Amino acid sequence: MLACFCHFLFLMQRCGATENIANANCRCGFTYVRQIFYIFIVSMFSSQVFADKNIVPTSIISENKVCIQCHENENKQLINDWRNSAHAKIIPVVDCISCHGGIHEDAVVKSRHDQTCIPCHGGKEASVVHSYSSSKHGTLMKLEKNSYDWNLPFVLANYRAPGCGYCHMHKSNHNVSTTVRHDLMNDLETKYVTDSMSTVCQDCHSPRYISRLFSNGEGMLEIARKKYREANNLIEQATTEFGAEKLATANRQLMKMQQHLRNVYLGAGHQSPDYQWWHGQPALDGDLLRIKDNLGELRRLGK
Ligand code: HEC
Ligand code: HEC
Ligand code: HEC
Ligand code: HEC
Ligand code: HEC
Repeated sequence: MLACFCHFLFLMQRCGATENIANANCRCGFTYVRQIFYIFIVSMFSSQVFADKNIVPTSIISENKVCIQCHENENKQLINDWRNSAHAKIIPVVDCISCHGGIHEDAVVKSRHDQTCIPCHGGKEASVVHSYSSSKHGTLMKLEKNSYDWNLPFVLANYRAPGCGYCHMHKSNHNVSTTVRHDLMNDLETKYVTDSMSTVCQDCHSPRYISRLFSNGEGMLEIARKKYREANNLIEQATTEFGAEKLATANRQLMKMQQHLRNVYLGAGHQSPDYQWWHGQPALDGDLLRIKDNLGELRRLGK
């Protein structure tokens, strides 16, 4: 439409506006009225062409809104799901091009590889990524990724081992936020998340196996929460005896506990025994002991 409008302005200029616009002839031989009619027909025709579902772009696209313009017609749900996800709400936005790139013919295959997600999610050292790569799924993926057919969608065990997208964007779900809970200290979102995630697991595992794993995982997370709550309560009680400065060490340790609690969560979610046991529970036990020691020491010195 913009192009047509510019075209119109260009013609206006070429012809030179006169008082009687409706009847004036321009050098191209059309009256203004006819030109407007002509431009209207052309713009109708061209928007029909662009809306044609079969037209697939062949040049590199560098703007998110170009993808959305076409794909909103094709699949409104997909665009809405993306809009409701943390990816669309954060600044800078994680847009279509961040995952699909700007070359249309490669768009879907590119997005399916773990390497699309990993650099943004902290790189391979980050706990969210390492908890996955140290799991059996991650190990299999590393060994087998070159033998998978990445043209296939994330359904029906098309891949032997799942990668990031298989679980978090299963059946092309573009709202990744529906696949994770947002508050580790309570289980308000747990049922919803585990129900939807367990349908993913059941592409490859039996329902009984998965429901047992999930209830073990919740049990483990609850034990971790108890350790955190105990430490938190001890520090809170101690605020009646000591000022903030004296409690700084204990509070720093409590911050570490949040990280270790998250490790237990990631260990259970990403099925990494290493994160459940080594980076998770024993680390929390250590934190709790140190906090108790530290408060004991303050009391001894205080006497
Ligand atoms: C001119 C309209 C148009 C634009 C612009 C457009 N697409 Fe598409 N796209 C289509 C059509 C039509 C299809 C379905 C045909 C096909 O599967 O190749 C499609 C298919 C896709 C697919 C699925 C391909 C498959 O093999 O399943 C992805 C992914 C995709 N587009 C992403 C994007 C992204 C990302 C952008 C922006 C960089 C974009 N598209 C811009 C029209 C468009
Ligand atoms: C976080 C990464 C990510 C973002 C952001 C993203 N996509 Fe996707 N998209 C994927 C993955 C992964 C798949 C493959 C899912 C599958 O195989 O089931 C996919 C699949 C698709 C498909 C194919 C759907 C189908 O059912 O075949 C289209 C079309 C598409 N994306 C368009 C878009 C558009 C348009 C945007 C921007 C609004 C966008 N995507 C944003 C990762 C992303
Ligand atoms: C086997 C399926 C599976 C795979 C593969 C997988 N995840 Fe997860 N992911 C989960 C589950 C399950 C959770 C926990 C969901 C819950 O209970 O809240 C989770 C949690 C997360 C979280 C939330 C962490 C937080 O602290 O809030 C992020 C982010 C994440 N995964 C990203 C990734 C990335 C990136 C990859 C690939 C490197 C990946 N996941 C691979 C299933 C998977
Ligand atoms: C361009 C960077 C980028 C890419 C690419 C990317 N992400 Fe993200 N992702 C983010 C950011 C930023 C957040 C929000 C983090 C936060 O809120 O702490 C996020 C959040 C998430 C979450 C948690 C959503 C929530 O509500 O807390 C999941 C799950 C996730 N991404 C999975 C993926 C998967 C799977 C892929 C690959 C298909 C991917 N991401 C690709 C940057 C990216
Ligand atoms: C695309 C198929 C696929 C999906 C989806 C999948 N897995 Fe797996 N999973 C496998 C394969 C293959 C193995 C390796 C089996 C073996 O030990 O030979 C495995 C192994 C495991 C193991 C380790 C078992 C052991 O003996 O060490 C656990 C635990 C597990 N999966 C849980 C899950 C959970 C939970 C989900 C959903 C969040 C899930 N899986 C999703 C394919 C899948």
